[in-house]
Amino acid sequence: MTTNCAIALQNLRKEFDGVIAVDNFTVDIEKGEFFSLLGPSGCGKTTTLRMIAGLEAPSAGQILLEGKDVSDTPAYKRQVNTVFQDYALFPHMTVKKNIYFPLKMRKIPLASAEPEIARVLRLVNMEGFDNRLPQQLSGGQRQRIALARSLVNKPAALLLDEPLGALDFKLRVAMQKVLKDIQRDVGITFIYVTHDQSEAMTMSDRIAVMKDGIVHQIGSPNDIYNRPETAFVASFIGDMNFIYGQLISMNQAESTIAVEGQQIKARTPKSNVQKHENVLICVRTERVQVNSHQSLENALQAKLTRIVFRGTDYEATCQVGESEIRAVVAAVTWDHALNVGDRVEIGWSAQDVIVFPRQEEEQIIQYSVEAV
Ligand SMILES: Nc1ncnc2c1ncn2[C@@H]1O[C@H](COP(=O)(O)OP(=O)(O)OP(=O)(O)O)[C@@H](O)[C@H]1O
Ligand SMILES: [Mg+2]
Repeated sequence: MTTNCAIALQNLRKEFDGVIAVDNFTVDIEKGEFFSLLGPSGCGKTTTLRMIAGLEAPSAGQILLEGKDVSDTPAYKRQVNTVFQDYALFPHMTVKKNIYFPLKMRKIPLASAEPEIARVLRLVNMEGFDNRLPQQLSGGQRQRIALARSLVNKPAALLLDEPLGALDFKLRVAMQKVLKDIQRDVGITFIYVTHDQSEAMTMSDRIAVMKDGIVHQIGSPNDIYNRPETAFVASFIGDMNFIYGQLISMNQAESTIAVEGQQIKARTPKSNVQKHENVLICVRTERVQVNSHQSLENALQAKLTRIVFRGTDYEATCQVGESEIRAVVAAVTWDHALNVGDRVEIGWSAQDVIVFPRQEEEQIIQYSVEAV
């Protein structure tokens, strides 16, 4: 652990009556880092956050805040604040009184708290709203007041549990920018819970991707997207093709894989993929080219079975033997002469192929095109 470590989790575990909510979570979160916990419903995000806040006792493992074990430190004495999805503003108190509340608890008189209240209101761009009641504010404004209130105590870290979950899409995207700017300005550590992968990708320095209490990968958005370490991470982030294959040969740099009676090349995986083992091949939909003019290392003969126009791009579904492979092509480069039923050549570079053992298939989370 470095001196720059704000929060360290060491083999953290939580069990509720036989259900393992969080298992063996170890990470060092740096001061000023924007760290996200990402995963589907029930994967243990809130439980992890509640343990850091001191609202839930771990079944095993340690939590260190700035190097100090806080196992025996009650929630109110920890240098962290939590912002929840439902804002939790007091409905009968004005904006100013809501923000003053944590200072009042520390017996700071209102007169001396005024400059601090003004500072945080300025920070969230809500000056002049002091005397409004929560019901006289929009959802985004309420969220900003909740954020202001969590910042008055100058916490070392802010824990945010799906804070934008109640907002509509456009407001959520706008608030993501506001949150990120505030985090950069105040320089405090954020631990941010979301099940929205694009939200985690756009805001975070690093992301922990979780499923069923297990941390599958911790890395930068770039790592997680381009070098997923499990099939679950590959399926949960971005849009991925999963294709059955059989490993024919592999050396340190490159592997050859049989797919539907044709051969493709892939970079050799780090994981325990053995020769001749049945494998799962992953290729991002935006990496698949249709009738490319360049010569590609991997080219397969296919039949176009579906074309969907999505505004900025086209999604083309191609049949190769029993496999269905989708290509997402920018609308500006789409060949409008193509029709359903046409024979096409699809391809991608060996660098774009990720290989997992076939057994990892059961981890895959599939989304329909309509749900994306
Ligand atoms: N107090 C509790 N008693 C029993 N089981 C619990 C309790 N709190 C959480 N769990 C279980 O622990 C697991 C993790 O729950 P948690 O709330 O951490 O998930 P989450 O990732 O925050 O999900 P969501 O995205 O739906 O909020 C779930 O299986 C949940 O049912
Ligand atoms: Mg939750």
